[in-house]
Amino acid sequence: MRGEYCVGGASFLSFVALLLLIFVHVGQINTSVVPHGIAMAKVNTSGFGQALNASFGDPIQGLYTDNYTSPLGERNGLRQLYEFGLYSYCAFVNSSAGTCTNHTIADSFEPYIAMTSDMFQNYTQYSDAMFVNTTLMNSSYLGYNARVAYYFILLGTIFATIALFTGVARRALLFFISTASSITAALFILIGAAIWTSIVKKCEAVNTLQLHVSNGTVLSGIVVSYGNGIYLAWAAFACLAASTVPYMVSCCTFRG
Ligand SMILES: *[C@@H]1O[C@H](CO)[C@@H](O)[C@H](O)[C@H]1NC(C)=O
Ligand SMILES: *[C@@H]1O[C@H](CO)[C@@H](O)[C@H](O)[C@H]1NC(C)=O
Ligand SMILES: *[C@@H]1O[C@H](CO)[C@@H](O)[C@H](O)[C@H]1NC(C)=O
Ligand SMILES: *[C@@H]1O[C@H](CO)[C@@H](O)[C@H](O)[C@H]1NC(C)=O
Ligand SMILES: *[C@@H]1O[C@H](CO)[C@@H](O)[C@H](O)[C@H]1NC(C)=O
Repeated sequence: MRGEYCVGGASFLSFVALLLLIFVHVGQINTSVVPHGIAMAKVNTSGFGQALNASFGDPIQGLYTDNYTSPLGERNGLRQLYEFGLYSYCAFVNSSAGTCTNHTIADSFEPYIAMTSDMFQNYTQYSDAMFVNTTLMNSSYLGYNARVAYYFILLGTIFATIALFTGVARRALLFFISTASSITAALFILIGAAIWTSIVKKCEAVNTLQLHVSNGTVLSGIVVSYGNGIYLAWAAFACLAASTVPYMVSCCTFRG
């Protein structure tokens, strides 16, 4: 294979990987269409009112809010859908209207805190009893792993950028750098994507959690699912892993 084609292929794959990673980073930074469409994890709470109702005995008043602009985390009412990104999370009262938290570097993934900090205090106490010993409620575990995963994804993005820019120059040393960078980037994105996949998978246990109520059992009414940000990260990993081959070939054979 000619060196030029190799470099072209490797650069193209690095470029696609970087683009995918940029999409991963913008997920949930605000509620406009593209960021709204990209999340690492989603939590649908729409069935929770009924579950709480069944375990509480009395009808639940004022659990949810319809006011999509009211700030999050201030007990203003639960939203139907929570979507988590790398820098913030957004909560929506329907499929489109919602609000987001402030941006934080290495934002923690703490879905249980996000939900309960929007409820009245006494409902929070009830849910603490309902979700005791679930991974969803283990906010320190989830938060820590998400922060670690964030740094792997951030470093992976930086190495993918280095691979892209050093790969276009016609110098043997730079080919060596781009090969090394694309291998490092692939490895870091793999770790970041695997951590996210694992923590969301563990949270999904609440989807089938049966709560004991006076006359039987009900589902928790909370549905956790993977966001497409996780799939984008896996796709970026695949592109970076594929790009290492042509980079390596160019590195060893290119005589430009
Ligand atoms: C919604 O919440 C915002 C912010 O707290 C508040 O300014 C506004 O008045 C609320 N709207 C309604 C209809 O309650
Ligand atoms: C949440 O789940 C309910 C019931 O499964 C579904 O009807 C609703 O559309 C979901 N909400 C969103 C915003 O996806
Ligand atoms: C969502 O809620 C907002 C504000 O209440 C409303 O303007 C909008 O039409 C709703 N969208 C859908 C799809 O129901
Ligand atoms: C979010 O940012 C705004 C504006 O910078 C600030 O007023 C507010 O206190 C912040 N909220 C939190 C929860 O940090
Ligand atoms: C339990 O009681 C509630 C409220 O009375 C009722 O809606 C529900 O269907 C009952 N569940 C079972 C399994 O009987």
